[in-house]
Amino acid sequence: MRTIMSKTNLLLLPGDGVGPEIMEEAIKVISIINDAGLSDISYDFADIGGIAIDNHNTPYPDETSKKCLDADCILLGAVGTKKHENNKNELKPESGLLALRKSLELYINVRPIFIFDSLVDSSSLKPELLKGLDIVIIRELIGDVYFGEPRGFKDDSSDKTGYNTMSYSTSEVERIADYAFNVAAKRASKVVSVDKANVLEASQVWRETVDKIQSNKYSDIDLSHMYVDNAAMQLVKDPKQFDVILTGNIFGDILSDEASMLTGSIGMLPSASLSNSKGVYEPIHGSAPDIAGKGIVNPIAMILSVAMMFEYSLNNKEISMLIKNSIDNVLKSGFRTKDISPTSEFINTSEMGDAIIQDIKNNV
Ligand code: IPM
Ligand code: MG
Repeated sequence: MRTIMSKTNLLLLPGDGVGPEIMEEAIKVISIINDAGLSDISYDFADIGGIAIDNHNTPYPDETSKKCLDADCILLGAVGTKKHENNKNELKPESGLLALRKSLELYINVRPIFIFDSLVDSSSLKPELLKGLDIVIIRELIGDVYFGEPRGFKDDSSDKTGYNTMSYSTSEVERIADYAFNVAAKRASKVVSVDKANVLEASQVWRETVDKIQSNKYSDIDLSHMYVDNAAMQLVKDPKQFDVILTGNIFGDILSDEASMLTGSIGMLPSASLSNSKGVYEPIHGSAPDIAGKGIVNPIAMILSVAMMFEYSLNNKEISMLIKNSIDNVLKSGFRTKDISPTSEFINTSEMGDAIIQDIKNNV
């Protein structure tokens, strides 16, 4: 195994709800890999989300922002609390995550949707539709209706209105399309771009631009377009028709939660949010306040996010594969957290983390 001894400064943002519990398991994995001499990662912590509102009166404190700028890469647990859910937007935990994405220019969001063989029976879909499933959703992360201006409320009449702006410009679409075509070139050379161009101007610019990039630079990649409503249907009808799905911020948010169910549990899926120079790695699930503190959250999405960090930020696919293989082995041995257990028997969060690091130890 290749030894990476260049020092990595990692920032940990555990966040809210189940975030701190899964972060503990991620730290165990990193420590084992450090101890084996395969990495030299040092880490620091900062607050984001609800915990940051409690401690600093803002979901994305300056101190956190500074540490993010200084870090080589970042691991994030989850944000979101019941306590702050009715706050105005600037004081919602989610605004901290959006500020982090925007300020670091993390325009690329990579969400791999794959299934471990031993979990094909855990999904509500038929196993034959899922066996061997391997999709990547490339979601644009800092544009669209999430950030479009103007936005706000008009309450000058008795009929209060909330409004947002969906927009995409050519340059915003070009860079994410470029990324998706490059991903596709290393896979099955097939991209399905998802939009709502039959209704929305933002999607018409999206589609035109994706077409132009493909014909100018990636004519060997097979590109097709799909409306988002149809894509939502096709994902559950015949998910294996997809390889790379390229889509905008809001459609990617929705389709990735839908697609997570193909893999048995939203607790299984990691993600990478990337700029041209930095990566933030986080599970796609939220803070799950209803199960927080009970020790039952599945840490696998978080540990797979560590694997993605090794692949994307540390350029070490071997360690990434080592972690994934250990998760595969542990699942094959029958270990299950509550969300993926077909029976009433399951192990807790730290037992799952321990089983995975034991297998990593056996293989380094
Ligand atoms: C996600 C989450 C976030 C989003 C929330 C927490 C703001 O759902 O990463 O998918 O909508 O992007
Ligand atoms: Mg989401």
